Amino acid sequence: MIDLKPRGAALRYSHAVLGLAVLHQLVGSEWMAKPWRFKDASAWQIQLFELHEWTGLAASLLLLVLLWSLWRRYGADSLGRFLPWLGGAGRGALGGELRGLLGGLPRLQAPDASQTRVLAAAVEGLGLLTLLFFAATGTAMWLLEDDLELMHEIGEVHEWGALPLKLYLAGHAGMALVHEWRGEGLLRRMFRGA
Ligand code: HEM
Ligand code: HEM
Repeated sequence: MIDLKPRGAALRYSHAVLGLAVLHQLVGSEWMAKPWRFKDASAWQIQLFELHEWTGLAASLLLLVLLWSLWRRYGADSLGRFLPWLGGAGRGALGGELRGLLGGLPRLQAPDASQTRVLAAAVEGLGLLTLLFFAATGTAMWLLEDDLELMHEIGEVHEWGALPLKLYLAGHAGMALVHEWRGEGLLRRMFRGA
C-alpha cells in the first residue's frame, strides 16, 4: 500500500472542468459546421465549430494538468494503477474483480466501490487514453487548418474516439452516480476533496 497524498486543488479542478468541457464537445459537435463544409453552414454553426476548437485546445491543456496531478499523487505507481492490464499482477487483480462482479449478477448484487478499485482505475486509464487521442488529433487539425484536405482526413480519425468516449462517460460517470446514490460519497470526495 502506498501512502496517498490527498487530492489537491489542481487534480480536483482540472478533473471537474475537463468533465464539463468534454460534455460540451460531445453535445456541440452534433450541430457544429465542419471547416471543409463552411460554405453550406450557417453563421452559428461556424461559431459552434470555433467554440469546439478553442474548448478542445483548453481541454487538451487541462488533460495535461490532470495527468501531472495524477503523477504527483501516485508517482511511479501511476502506470500500474491506470493501465493494470500491462502487467501480470494487474491482469490477475482485474480478473479477480471481474469474476466477483459476474458472481454477484445472478443475485442482482452490485459491489461497493472498494471491491472494484482495480477495475475503476483501469476504466479511468482507458478514458485518459481516449482523451489523449482526441487532444492529439484535435491539435493536429488546428495546426493544419490551412490544408483542408489533410484536416478532413484527420477529422475522420478524430471521430473514431466518439464511441469509446460515450461508453467511458456512461461507465465512469454513471457508476460515480450509482455509488453516490448508495451513499458511498465518491462524488463529494472527488469534487470537494472532503
Ligand atoms: C480534448 C479535446 C477534444 C474532444 C474531446 C473532441 C471531441 C469531439 C467529438 C466527440 C466529435 C464528434 C465525433 C462524432 O460525432 O463522430 C468531434 C468532432 C470534431 N472535432 Fe473535436 N474534440 C476535441 C478537440 C478538437 C480540436 C482542438 C479541434 C480543432 C480543429 C477539433 C475539431 C473537430 C472537427 C473538425 C470535428 C468533426 C470531424 C468530422 O466530422 O470528420 N476537435 N470532436
Ligand atoms: C472525460 C472526462 C473524465 C475523465 C478523463 C475522468 C478521469 C478520472 C480519473 C483519472 C479519476 C481518478 C482520480 C484519482 O485517482 O485521484 C477520476 C475519478 C473520479 N471521477 Fe472522473 N473523469 C471524467 C469525468 C467525470 C464525470 C463527468 C464525473 C461525474 C459524474 C466523474 C466522477 C468521478 C468520481 C466520483 C471520481 C472518484 C472515484 C473514486 O474515488 O474512486 N468523472 N476521474
